[in-house]
Amino acid sequence: MKIAVIGTGYVGLVTGTCFSNSGNDVTCIDIDEKKIAGLKQGEIPIYEPGLKEMVLRNAEEGRLKFTTDTPAGVREAEIVYLAVGTPQGDDGSADLSAMWAVVKAIAPHLREDAIVVTKSTVPVGTNATIYGMLQELTGRDCDVASNPEFLKEGAAIDDFMKPDRVVVGVRRPEVSDKLEQLYSPFLRTEKPFLSMSPESAEMTKYVANALLATKISFINEMANLCEKMGGDINDVRRGIGHDSRIGFAFLFPGVGYGGSCFPKDVRALNAMTVSKGLEPTMLRAVDEINERQKSVMANKLDAHFGGDLSGKRIAIWGLAFKPETDDIREAPALVLVDWLLEKGAAVVAHDPEAIPNVRAELGDKIEYSERRMATLDGADALCILTDWKAYHQPDFAEMYQLLKEPVVLDGRNLYDPARMAARGYCYHSIGRVSVD
Ligand code: UGA
Repeated sequence: MKIAVIGTGYVGLVTGTCFSNSGNDVTCIDIDEKKIAGLKQGEIPIYEPGLKEMVLRNAEEGRLKFTTDTPAGVREAEIVYLAVGTPQGDDGSADLSAMWAVVKAIAPHLREDAIVVTKSTVPVGTNATIYGMLQELTGRDCDVASNPEFLKEGAAIDDFMKPDRVVVGVRRPEVSDKLEQLYSPFLRTEKPFLSMSPESAEMTKYVANALLATKISFINEMANLCEKMGGDINDVRRGIGHDSRIGFAFLFPGVGYGGSCFPKDVRALNAMTVSKGLEPTMLRAVDEINERQKSVMANKLDAHFGGDLSGKRIAIWGLAFKPETDDIREAPALVLVDWLLEKGAAVVAHDPEAIPNVRAELGDKIEYSERRMATLDGADALCILTDWKAYHQPDFAEMYQLLKEPVVLDGRNLYDPARMAARGYCYHSIGRVSVD
């Protein structure tokens, strides 16, 4: 099939690349000339395992093209995917200005039988609005479908190629058939293709993210209580997870969820709820707990150092909002860094991928190290914010030698408290008893 994908952010680039990989003829379109020029040279604007190789291979074989020329890119496409950003607006709702601009830009150039598909996370009712806009702009009934994306950063290629399910929201069964055909190479393991109304599909995306965020806020609240009660949240997690009604996924406590999706989507769903005169009690609590959880490491540092951090040197492992990405949007690590700087502490940080992004934001306000062990030299404490694999099994004896004080605050529960005590560490983690 001939496909155009508008927007070469995370979702757009992965979608376009994976569809080209299954043999389609894909043109990725973006108004950012620098980005497109880079992509044409094989430069990938984000760090995502496996993406670069797949872009290069498909581009070389002529199935994947990049352009800033929207009319030319759209003209022959049977399916036009819209994957532009829908950032959080001032009132928490999604800002759709990029989406409206794209709809206006493509309208005059669409094939008569083109299907316009939204891949971006858009508020419920957006597909219907796009349908109305296209009707006005083209003078005909255009097919508009919703096809929300459930991929995770860091595992994007795998999630796209082996989805748990594909959801589409359509008005006509013929549109659903065409999209099912497009997805058939990815559904060979009998995973479901679920067709529903555009409103239900749009809602599905938000409900999925809000429920995952709810699980995280719930376990974080329980972890904080567990710690006060003298329990170990990891044991509790195991104790509940074996109940098949509960399971283990997304119940790891930590420093709060970050990233470009959960915070924004919970707030957008919240705004939708309010706009319909309903009370978003649960959504508000999920967001509030998460904001509070981002301070959990600061509170632990404050308690450990008796409220005086000035002149202390604090090492940080992990700046990205999660492992296997260089994304620092809404990253809990940056909230901690701001707090430490405000308190007059010096910060020295390591991250396998995110340093360039943090440097672009914070410049020389903190020190950066390419080597995780080098951050520890003379540091008063180590704080772990992201569960990169490289942090799971460090040389504890070397760490002990390097740190000025053997103090480790672990926001991801990577180590065993009893073993840390035996190694001579003062060790604080999330939802477990501290060892001093
Ligand atoms: C999330 C969803 O998982 C995807 O299904 C969805 O497609 C995507 O948003 C989106 O809407 O585009 P992502 O933001 O890439 O994906 O990352 P996740 O792996 O879901 O992690 C989000 C945050 O939750 C991270 O900060 C992570 O550290 C935190 N988390 C996750 C926990 O604190 N505990 C857990 O048990 C799981």
